[in-house]
Amino acid sequence: MKVAVLGAGIMGSGIAQLAAMAGDEAVARDVSEEQLGRGAQAVERSLARFAKSQRLTTEEAEAARGRVRFTTDLDEAVGGADVVIEAVPEVLEIKREVWREVLALAPPDALLGTNTSQLSITTIAAALGDDAPRLVGIHFFNPPVMMKLVEVIAGLQTRPEEIDRARALGERLGREVVVCRKDSPGFITSRAYAILRLECIRMLEEGIATAEDIDKALRLGFNFPMGPLELGDMNGLDTYLHAISGLAEAHGERFRPTVGLRNMVAANRLGRKTGAGFYEYGEENGR
Ligand SMILES: NC(=O)c1ccc[n+]([C@@H]2O[C@H](COP(=O)([O-])OP(=O)(O)OC[C@H]3O[C@@H](n4cnc5c(N)ncnc54)[C@H](O)[C@@H]3O)[C@@H](O)[C@H]2O)c1
Repeated sequence: MKVAVLGAGIMGSGIAQLAAMAGDEAVARDVSEEQLGRGAQAVERSLARFAKSQRLTTEEAEAARGRVRFTTDLDEAVGGADVVIEAVPEVLEIKREVWREVLALAPPDALLGTNTSQLSITTIAAALGDDAPRLVGIHFFNPPVMMKLVEVIAGLQTRPEEIDRARALGERLGREVVVCRKDSPGFITSRAYAILRLECIRMLEEGIATAEDIDKALRLGFNFPMGPLELGDMNGLDTYLHAISGLAEAHGERFRPTVGLRNMVAANRLGRKTGAGFYEYGEENGR
């Protein structure tokens, strides 16, 4: 099976690696040569870790590396592809433009999936005109080779058989699949988790407990690998504010960002990437 992946960034390179590890021919296409180089390096490093920890033999890791190609040529990527997965930046117009280009080159029976985290599948699909029913949301998690879940999302017009094909693909790649039957902002995962983190932020702002204790309570009380506040610092609080503002627009008041969160973002306390968020980072703080 040939899997074309559009965008060789964090997600695209990981999805291509996952397909190659499952025995597929994977071709990752990016507009940036530099990014293709970074994507190839990321795949090599990750496969080396798999071999070192004996989750793959050296031969298996080498064979998987041999099944991934990186290219700037769209036709080389999507021509003859059985599956096309788009993982370009989370910007509606870029995604719609990419899908219009793909449609002209991909086989008419290829499975078409977008890895968007929160854009409307229906709105992206509208760019495909009569082919809109072919597009389905296939949401991998970061990093795709480690995270077991794939969230499949039906757009308003998505054909039921595309959902079945997306499910079968996820299972072939060794993932567990859930289906979000209606295209709705936040799908299942981001919607549920966004409100959980928001409640943690509210508790912090109300002085109910420290950030450390809120995270510890959720880690140990519910077996979460990380607390919602520390994970928020890792993902970036600007990204989170953007996401819940969109969810508030769609689902109402219960997703309204707090004033404290807005202030943190205004003050550039965005989490790890700016050295401070809910926690302070740097050696002097032991983080
Ligand atoms: N990063 C995450 O944790 C995560 C998790 C799940 C889903 N997603 C989603 O996956 C998608 C990609 O995210 P990412 O984190 O990999 O982003 P990224 O910025 O790391 O990668 C995007 C890549 O797309 C390339 N690109 C831009 N225009 C292109 C085009 N026309 N054709 C081909 N490539 C093009 C860029 O050069 C870049 O390398 C987004 O929709 C994002 O919301 C991200």
